[in-house]
Amino acid sequence: MPGNTNLRAAQRLARDEFYTQRSDIERELRHYGPQFRGKTVLCNCDDPRTSQFFAYFRDHFHELGLKRLLASCVSRPELDQKAVYAQFDGEKLAIRPLKGSGDFRSAECLAILRQADMVVTNPPFSLFREFVPLLESHGKKFLVVGSQNAITYQEIFPLIQKNRLWLGFGFPSAAAHFVNRCYTDYAASTDHREGMIRVSGVQWFTNLDVEKRREFLPLVCRYTPRKFPKYENYDAIEVAHTAEIPRDWPGVMGVPITFLTKYNPDQFTILGLAASAKYRPELVGIPFKGTGNAKPILNGKITYARIFIQQKNPGE
Ligand SMILES: C[S@@+](CC[C@H](N)C(=O)[O-])C[C@H]1O[C@@H](n2cnc3c(N)ncnc32)[C@H](O)[C@@H]1O
Repeated sequence: MPGNTNLRAAQRLARDEFYTQRSDIERELRHYGPQFRGKTVLCNCDDPRTSQFFAYFRDHFHELGLKRLLASCVSRPELDQKAVYAQFDGEKLAIRPLKGSGDFRSAECLAILRQADMVVTNPPFSLFREFVPLLESHGKKFLVVGSQNAITYQEIFPLIQKNRLWLGFGFPSAAAHFVNRCYTDYAASTDHREGMIRVSGVQWFTNLDVEKRREFLPLVCRYTPRKFPKYENYDAIEVAHTAEIPRDWPGVMGVPITFLTKYNPDQFTILGLAASAKYRPELVGIPFKGTGNAKPILNGKITYARIFIQQKNPGE
């Protein structure tokens, strides 16, 4: 129905206009301080007049030892947002109009990207599958906000599997409260706040060093066939909760995608992902024994998306 299509397109656009709060930026950024020393940071989905990312780096410019701070933003006339480019050298701030639309994929913005060492922002959720690979292909360090579902994108998961991308420290309970200028929030949420929207399943994605990736997850459960049944379509067991990974199981396990918040690459190997109905051998990573839906099947029922993992040194 065209009406519905237009509504969905409008909602998608509006969802791309959720703004990050200063407190959430501060909570995450406090873990990375020394990695910013001497670097040029770019916030490339950020209006320098209003972005809390830009304000954070401007306020902490000397403390972080930044070399330069850059920002660019796309033109959004309906929001009084002009396509501009900002540069801050620790003293002087210069803001000038861009010739084009300010799209982060435009030649003009890519030329700005090339000047940067790091990108820190909350990009439009609808363009995340293009945004991260673009930064990766330009060899940039980055720390960006995205939907947890992005873990399952075929453009994103292989980067996670190859240890070129991982999760940061995160939002409390993986839920963010964004400043919301144009989306009607119909959800009856007990913690609804005026002018804000609560979005669950939000993560920081990064290739900066994250200390907590070196922490070993303490494993206390032991394998029993009753507690950890085998899937019908994969030679792997179902582990419904990351905290219950059986310490003594040497084979393949299917775990929820939130496992990545606890993932230490010295403890586990990521073999693949079964997140969609279609079997994609390159993504799933282990042999498929079924014929139908490629999501793991347990007692005749299709489960949620699962990441297939194996322990590097299983215990007893
Ligand atoms: C999720 S909002 C976040 C804004 C800001 N980074 C923040 O966190 O407060 C994403 C921003 O990206 C902008 N945007 C949308 N499409 C874009 C594109 N193709 N290139 C650059 N920016 C874009 C939107 O206008 C919006 O301001």
